Amino acid sequence: MRLLLSSSYRLREKGSKSHHKNGSVALPSTLSWMMERKHRMNILITGGAGFIGANLCRFLLEQHKAERVIAVDSFHSYYDPAIKRKRMALLEKLPGFCLVETDILDTAAMSQLMEKEKPDAIIHLAAIPGVRGSLDDPLGYVDVDVKGTVQMLELARKYGIARIVAASSSSVYGERAVDRSFCESEPDLNPISPYAASKAAAELFCRTYTQLYGMHVTALRFFTVYGPGQRPDMAISKFVKSIMEDKPITVFDLQSVRDYTYVDDIVRGIWAAVQQANGWQVYNLGSGHPVSLLELVRLLEQTTGKSAHMQRQGAQPGDVSGTWANTEQARERLGWSAEVSLPDGLRRYVEWWLRQ
Ligand SMILES: NC(=O)c1ccc[n+]([C@@H]2O[C@H](COP(=O)([O-])OP(=O)(O)OC[C@H]3O[C@@H](n4cnc5c(N)ncnc54)[C@H](O)[C@@H]3O)[C@@H](O)[C@H]2O)c1
Repeated sequence: MRLLLSSSYRLREKGSKSHHKNGSVALPSTLSWMMERKHRMNILITGGAGFIGANLCRFLLEQHKAERVIAVDSFHSYYDPAIKRKRMALLEKLPGFCLVETDILDTAAMSQLMEKEKPDAIIHLAAIPGVRGSLDDPLGYVDVDVKGTVQMLELARKYGIARIVAASSSSVYGERAVDRSFCESEPDLNPISPYAASKAAAELFCRTYTQLYGMHVTALRFFTVYGPGQRPDMAISKFVKSIMEDKPITVFDLQSVRDYTYVDDIVRGIWAAVQQANGWQVYNLGSGHPVSLLELVRLLEQTTGKSAHMQRQGAQPGDVSGTWANTEQARERLGWSAEVSLPDGLRRYVEWWLRQ
């Protein structure tokens, strides 16, 4: 099913949640919330047409985790919207899936959607992603990545949606020595791009809303996510395409390291966070095994059976020299850890790429 929301969209039902005097909603504890679930859930996913969002929608529907999945997306032009429409065309074949094409910043449309759908949980992934674009358009990133997050928190508060899981990023840690893994409790976040600063600001708003209104909000710091359907602007997508087409790849700092995380692991982690939500939480979702850019290129050569022709350039402003997830908290509290190794994930990605 597909809806295009506008101000003429009609309401069908009114919400029935009880409200506190300060306007906030009475929220059940995690345990009672889970025990009260007599039906499978109605999950609203912002950014549902995106790379992670579309993989998450498929996971929830195919694994029967949710009865109904409502993907909200504006088809932002950060990369070709045709890629997002292709993902949606595949998902629209699945029962229980609904696409709502609207901008999350459209308060009237989003309010109508909340009243009608009364989702049990919101998974907020909508954002303008990517570090480098944020140097050219910092205000655009603030609008979507910060204001959009506050919009979803406000809607959740007003419509009594008990829990929100919001996408954050490893980039909030910023530039630091990669001699040990990064813990969620690091006192000094050091973002070095407007994108990273926007994600850090969005996290602060999430924490503020849990304190003000007793909501359950979890921020997940994703570490470089890759896999089938990956965004075309990301290194692995660009490298595989160029290597397969015998074209040169542009590499920046070959010694820089990234903690690459397979998208199936990420969607499992998101779902674990929805189930375990409890006040303010923040978790790293990463593989915990950082590799250098040079190692990544060598692995891609092995996976594709082809040689990479590297064209070197200097490190780019906004790019950190390394990321490395400490995942102890996610393991202890969510029972989550990454399962797909980088060689295995790259093989699956290349197989997917060849089928396209
Ligand atoms: N992919 C990664 O490696 C990675 C790493 C860290 C964090 N994240 C975060 O995870 C989330 C998903 O990332 P992704 O890689 O799937 O990116 P993506 O660009 O594929 O998905 C984001 C989606 O949000 C939509 N969107 C943007 N602005 C919107 C708006 N105003 N209203 C409604 N929809 C809007 C876009 O159209 C897009 O489909 C983002 O919040 C991103 O910052 C991603």
